[in-house]
Amino acid sequence: MNDRPVRFGLIGFGAWGQHHANAIQVTEGAELHAVAASSQKSADLAKEIYPQVDVYTNYLELIARDDLDFIDVVVPSYLHHEVATAVLRSNKHLLLEKPMGISLAECDEMIQVAEERDLIFSVGHELRLSSMWGKAKAMIDDGFIGDPLYALVELSRNPYRQGANGWRYDIERVGSWVLEEPIHFFDLARWYLQGNGNPSSVYASANSRQPGHPELQDNFSAIMHFEGGAYAVVSQTLAAFEHHQTIKITGTKGALWASWSGAMDRTRHPTFSLRAFDGEKVETVPIEKPTGELFELEDQIARMVDTLRKGTPLHCTGRDGRWSVAMCLAAGASIESGKPEPISVS
Ligand SMILES: NC(=O)c1ccc[n+]([C@@H]2O[C@H](COP(=O)([O-])OP(=O)(O)OC[C@H]3O[C@@H](n4cnc5c(N)ncnc54)[C@H](OP(=O)(O)O)[C@@H]3O)[C@@H](O)[C@H]2O)c1
Repeated sequence: MNDRPVRFGLIGFGAWGQHHANAIQVTEGAELHAVAASSQKSADLAKEIYPQVDVYTNYLELIARDDLDFIDVVVPSYLHHEVATAVLRSNKHLLLEKPMGISLAECDEMIQVAEERDLIFSVGHELRLSSMWGKAKAMIDDGFIGDPLYALVELSRNPYRQGANGWRYDIERVGSWVLEEPIHFFDLARWYLQGNGNPSSVYASANSRQPGHPELQDNFSAIMHFEGGAYAVVSQTLAAFEHHQTIKITGTKGALWASWSGAMDRTRHPTFSLRAFDGEKVETVPIEKPTGELFELEDQIARMVDTLRKGTPLHCTGRDGRWSVAMCLAAGASIESGKPEPISVS
C-alpha cells in the first residue's frame, strides 16, 4: 500500500460509533469516507457533523463501494456476525467492536472468512493499548513480579445505557451482560496471565436488581483457572456510581496495583495510578500518556493504519476475540449450572 491515507467506512453511529468517527478523523493517516446507521435521524446527524462524508441507512450500500480499505463495525452485538461477515466477504479489512460475536459458531465463521481472504481482522479490546494497563502487561512480561499467579480485575460503575431501540436490555440482542463489559476484563486477565497457559475453567455467580429480568445481571463475579495453576478473579457491579476500575496482580516475587477512575467511562479527565512492588520496595510507576477508552480508541485506529501500511502486529486478533467470547460463555454456563465449567476452545 502506498502512503495515501487509509480510507475508512464506519457502520454504526450510536454512542460509541460517534467516538469511533471522531477517532478516525483525528488519527494521522486515516480518513473517514462513509458512515452507515440504521435510522434517518442518525444518518442526518452523521451528515451534519461530517458533511464531506457519504452517509447510508443501508450498510450494504457502504460495503458495496470499492474505494474503502477498512470498515469499522460498531453496531449492537447481535448484528456483529451478520455485518462483519458481509464486510469480510466484500474483501475489506475489518475492525469489529467487542464482543466479537454472541456465540462461538459466529466467531468461527468470521475467522474462517477473514483467513480465507487474507484480510486484517481485529476486535475492539482497546484496553490492551492503554498506557497503564499495557504498562502492567510489559512489567509482567519483563519479570518484575516474578511468575504471575493471581490477577484481580474489578469494576464498579453506573448502569448500562439502553442502546438504540433498547438492545442492551434485551437478552436476545445483547447476548449477556457478561459479554458487554466483563469481556474486557476476561481479555485482560488472559493477557496478563498468558505465561501460565490457557484459561481452563471458570466458576461464576451473578444476580440482578432488574424487576422481572433475572437474566440481566448487575452483579457478576468469576474465578477463572489457568492450566499452569494461576487464577484470576473478574468482578463487576453495575449498581454503583461513576466508573472505577482496579487491577491487582501478584507473582512469585512482587505485585502490581493499578486503578482508574472517571465520572464515566468515556471521560478525557480521569485519575489513574500504577503502583508496583518488586519484593523490596513500592514505587509509583510514571504513566506518560493519559489512559481511558477514548484515548485507546484513537490508538486502536492508529494501529489499524500501521497494520495495513507496515504490517505492525494487531493488538487483538480474531482468535483473541474468540477466546474472550469463550470465557464469557463459560462464565454464563457456570452461573446457570452453579458449578465450575470448562472453557471451550475447540
Ligand atoms: N470497546 C468498548 O469499550 C465499547 C464501548 C461501548 C460499546 N461497545 C460496543 O459497540 C457496539 C455499539 O455500542 P453502542 O453503545 O454504540 O450502541 P448504540 O448507541 O445502541 O449504537 C448502535 C448503532 O448501530 C446502528 N445500527 C443498528 N442496526 C444497524 C444496521 N443494520 N446497520 C447500520 N447501523 C445499525 C444504530 O443506528 P441508529 O442510531 O440509526 O439506531 C446505532 O447508530 C456494541 O457491540 C457494544 O458492545 C464497545
